[in-house]
Amino acid sequence: MCALFKDREKLTPRYIPANLPHRNDEVNFLNSFFRESLTYPSKSHLKTVQIVGAVGSGKTAVARLFGDRFESEARRQNVNLKNIYINLKLHGDSKVILYRHLTRQVAPEIYSTSLSAEELLYNLIKFLKEYRRYLVLTLDEIDYFIKRTQDSDIFYDMSRLEEFIEPGETSNFLGIIFIARGREFQKLLDEAALSSLGNIVLEFKPYTYNQLIDILEERVKEAFNPGTVPLEIIEFVADITSKPPVKGDVRYALDILLYSGNLAEYEGYDRILPEHVRKVVNITYPTITEEDIYYLPEKDKIVLLSIAKLLKNDRKPYTSLKEIRQSCAILCEQLKLKQMSTEEIENSVDDLHDRNIIEIKSLSSIGITGIPVEALDQFLENLMKRLESGLIERT
Ligand SMILES: Nc1ncnc2c1ncn2[C@@H]1O[C@H](COP(=O)(O)OP(=O)(O)OP(=O)(O)O)[C@@H](O)[C@H]1O
Ligand SMILES: [Mg+2]
Repeated sequence: MCALFKDREKLTPRYIPANLPHRNDEVNFLNSFFRESLTYPSKSHLKTVQIVGAVGSGKTAVARLFGDRFESEARRQNVNLKNIYINLKLHGDSKVILYRHLTRQVAPEIYSTSLSAEELLYNLIKFLKEYRRYLVLTLDEIDYFIKRTQDSDIFYDMSRLEEFIEPGETSNFLGIIFIARGREFQKLLDEAALSSLGNIVLEFKPYTYNQLIDILEERVKEAFNPGTVPLEIIEFVADITSKPPVKGDVRYALDILLYSGNLAEYEGYDRILPEHVRKVVNITYPTITEEDIYYLPEKDKIVLLSIAKLLKNDRKPYTSLKEIRQSCAILCEQLKLKQMSTEEIENSVDDLHDRNIIEIKSLSSIGITGIPVEALDQFLENLMKRLESGLIERT
């Protein structure tokens, strides 16, 4: 049996890919925005950018990739520049903890736990100027930080960096990137703090289905061995994650791929099957409860069982209305139920869709999201048996 994974680690959030499809423009924008500061770094004033966008829309990845590239660009131009990334969820308990962390990253030799926040920042700028070193800083999850600490002091500090040593002086901080999920937190800030965020805002729209396909294809190439993740699986995951409630979150899409891969491997398969994805989605995003199915009208149950059987037998994520009609006819005959008309079947398909139990991409692409076909089949089969015996008892 061939191994599924080439490198599992490539699917984790720790890994930053060297190429971010559909976010190249943003990475390039940051690069051209900050690049001119490298020409006369000691005379360059601080520039700020905000990145705002939904969960898993690539904000962190873009800032980190830009930072790495910018560091190399600076090296080429003989500028001693460091890119510092700080996630305030990890290092943002308070301002002093944040500045200690910053100091330790930039200049461990001047790190001290006995200094105040202001002293730490003052010493840091003095150090940078003395040794002609420069910084670009990313402060990630600032909305979280503001909500948690109710403290907007760091924004004043960032806007006053150039006054710490002497008014009008530069601070050797060439750039700061602030990252937030939305703009809600700005309501908690006053004018002065707001202005330190700057006017330049990069807004990241949620990824679309087609964008997700491109992104996932690249990530799959890095993480899995060839042939273990068929295109239909990538399409299936992109479909699930481009729609509400997920709406373009690549992190969730990568999680689905990782867990599906683990599951397929555990079950001894040499590739991921739609069932593996469905099982994972069911565990991580349950959309159909047993109760939902229990309260279905009988006709819906027959149609749903037909769909489940089709998907299970053919090992594919979607089926067509035509196949559903054929499968329904066979099922009704087997269960000795009255045949359903085309209209009745279409009605049930619509109803199942309205209940969010099935999804209809087109009449030839009907599938179930959020429940393992295996489980659904068994569950419905039992239900149908009970129904059958109930009917027999009544007669
Ligand atoms: N364009 C892309 N190409 C490849 N991978 C991507 C792309 N965009 C995001 N990712 C990957 O998706 C995951 C989530 O992205 P990222 O952490 O940048 O999201 P975010 O916008 O910072 O989300 P959050 O608001 O939850 O912090 C990461 O593993 C990242 O590598
Ligand atoms: Mg992030």
